[in-house]
Amino acid sequence: MKIHLLTLSLLLTLCAVNAQKKTIAQKVDSVLHLMTLEEKVGQMNQYNGDWEATGPITRDGDKQNQIRKGMLGSMLNVTGVEHTRQLQEMAMQSRLKIPLLFGQDIIHGYRTTFPIPLGEAASWDLEAIQRSARIAATEAAAAGVHWTFAPMVDIARDPRWGRVMEGAGEDTWLGSRIARARVLGFQGKRLGDTDAIMACAKHFAAYGAAIGGRDYNSVDMSLRTLWEVYLPPFKAALDAGAATFMNSFNDLNGIPATGNVYLQREILKGKWKFKGITVSDWGSVGEMIPHGYAANNYEAALEAVTAGCDMDMESRSYIGNLVKLVRDGKVSIALIDDAVRRILTKKFELGLFDDPFRFCNDGRAAGQWDNAANLAAEQDMATKSIVLLKNDNQVLPLSKNAGTIALIGPLIKSVRENLGFWSYQWPDDTARIITPWDGIARKVSGATKLLYAKGCGIDDSSRAGFAEAVAAASQADIVIMDVGEAPDMSGEAKSRSNLHLPGVQEDLIRAIQATGKPVVVMISAGRPLIFNWTADNVPAILYTWWLGTRAGSAMADVLFGEYNPSGKLPISFPRAEGQIPIYYNHFSTGRPAKSDSDLYYVSAYTDLVNSPRFPFGYGLSYTRFSYSDITLSAPAFRPGQQLTATVTLTNTGKYAGRETAELYVRDLVGSVVRPVKELKGFTQVLLRPGESRELTFTISAVDLRFYNDKLEYIYEPGEFRLYVGGSSSDVKEAKFVLLAK
Ligand code: NOJ
Repeated sequence: MKIHLLTLSLLLTLCAVNAQKKTIAQKVDSVLHLMTLEEKVGQMNQYNGDWEATGPITRDGDKQNQIRKGMLGSMLNVTGVEHTRQLQEMAMQSRLKIPLLFGQDIIHGYRTTFPIPLGEAASWDLEAIQRSARIAATEAAAAGVHWTFAPMVDIARDPRWGRVMEGAGEDTWLGSRIARARVLGFQGKRLGDTDAIMACAKHFAAYGAAIGGRDYNSVDMSLRTLWEVYLPPFKAALDAGAATFMNSFNDLNGIPATGNVYLQREILKGKWKFKGITVSDWGSVGEMIPHGYAANNYEAALEAVTAGCDMDMESRSYIGNLVKLVRDGKVSIALIDDAVRRILTKKFELGLFDDPFRFCNDGRAAGQWDNAANLAAEQDMATKSIVLLKNDNQVLPLSKNAGTIALIGPLIKSVRENLGFWSYQWPDDTARIITPWDGIARKVSGATKLLYAKGCGIDDSSRAGFAEAVAAASQADIVIMDVGEAPDMSGEAKSRSNLHLPGVQEDLIRAIQATGKPVVVMISAGRPLIFNWTADNVPAILYTWWLGTRAGSAMADVLFGEYNPSGKLPISFPRAEGQIPIYYNHFSTGRPAKSDSDLYYVSAYTDLVNSPRFPFGYGLSYTRFSYSDITLSAPAFRPGQQLTATVTLTNTGKYAGRETAELYVRDLVGSVVRPVKELKGFTQVLLRPGESRELTFTISAVDLRFYNDKLEYIYEPGEFRLYVGGSSSDVKEAKFVLLAK
């Protein structure tokens, strides 16, 4: 009986959901019927709110009138309850009163700034990452925002590209899980809740593979690499329900992504059946002119709309040309209707037709403004993002009664820098940001004396501050340094050819290390930097990215052992720019080098080893973890069956610690060559000193699929290797065979 009742109530719920969907579809159609062609094109038009720009702003002083005439579907970069309300009121003066959508780059937090996405990825903590996006959405939604242009799910194998800071790093499997977590976080339980905002998977596609790591540059890659490495995080975002997609600035194999039929029409809206909105990147419709793909905005609009781009961000190609393109018979009205239907559907789903002001709420905004729970979650995320790269002689953790500590470096008293690129600079930020200095000062005992010296600037050549810094270090029992990048050195349009610690910072580290005092170096940056001398000579190094509002507290928690660092690198750290692109899941080649010293006519550099400075998946702890050999449930299995791999993980050190155990596989012989290792899973466990835990990983044939030469997604029987360990380069190994069906 219970089951019957349950089934009945489930059926009723499903009917209600369908009725609701049908109602929205019907409502959309009835609005569409009333619209003129000009109004339809207006919905496909998006302008910047003149607040902040990442490209040239189209200014004609007429935006407000266009809103009143129903010539605008959406705006970006309009902040705050008051401002969004004002503009929405104008939209309510238009003939059909179609509400505006407000979009913004909420990349790693809104009011509460979380670590940069690459830093969060280093936590490998999907729950915490989802929570971070959830909080960002809740804060932004209360201030009138409906739509974030995040997550960026571009795989990035080239740290010269400044936007590595904005994604989840180099790995497709990890990147796909993180893409899903972020979409679920932004969109909450359902669109239509006043704490949920639309996510936007970007940049579709392959933007992270810009040649030479130079932003906006061309991308040239095989379709197999596209499907296997670059597309899966987008598919994961779509499967998680991402409401929107953004296309990208780059051309892919000669066709700009914005006008790319294969990407948008065939894959996204065709094969993947995406029902949401596709928006261009900033001006990217018009940028098809300098690309040499369209002669003018008329042609650019034609290419973009034909390819499936529903909304034009800031290029004005649609508003200026789509009506004429329809009248000239070049664009069918069905194409326009499809785009407008998608846009109106999301406006209905968000509940904006019922109440266009439901996201502008002073009370809710105030409740989110300095929300203690959000700040605590930020600190938790920040501590989990820190990666311990080196800890010789157990220099860390430090005692809170450390006598005298010298705090040195251009970033030790940094304030807004802690927020990193793509963050909102609120007027009162400076009071609420916890700097490294503040975090440490609050943590140490009253008896501990702190000395300070800046030493040098981030990127200048002056050594004038060295003497003072050396004097401070000489008087101290221990030195903590914070060096790295300025936040605007990584991010959009921030590609760099030189990834060494900028300026004279590494010389400062040398001078301080020469005092003979124990030195801890924290490196705050938006990308993997190169710091070989430091890595060779300084005993303790923490990679701290840009950690957000509570950066200093998170650093202090780790420095003084209240949090045992658990981060693992989501991207390989090169030894030199000449190794780039460098990534762990490369192919073997016909002449693989057996080791870093194997140079004789093998695939190697004669002046540089092949291995990275720090590999993907690497990160130390204050404790030690030991992995037993791997036990497999069987030496061979068939498609449809499962193989389990078991290892015992033991905490052999003195501290409780959290370990991420990583699972990799290698397909030894394939119809196309396969990577030397591919991440296929991971698990995180917290172990007390001396505690052991059995970890079990499961593999089935579908986990072993890849794209063959015909772009079929298949697995092939044969011999495999399976690896489990604490980094991509420190693993236990086992063999198994996948049998034919
Ligand atoms: C250009 C960037 O590429 C994109 O990621 C961003 O969302 C837009 N500008 C809007 O700011």
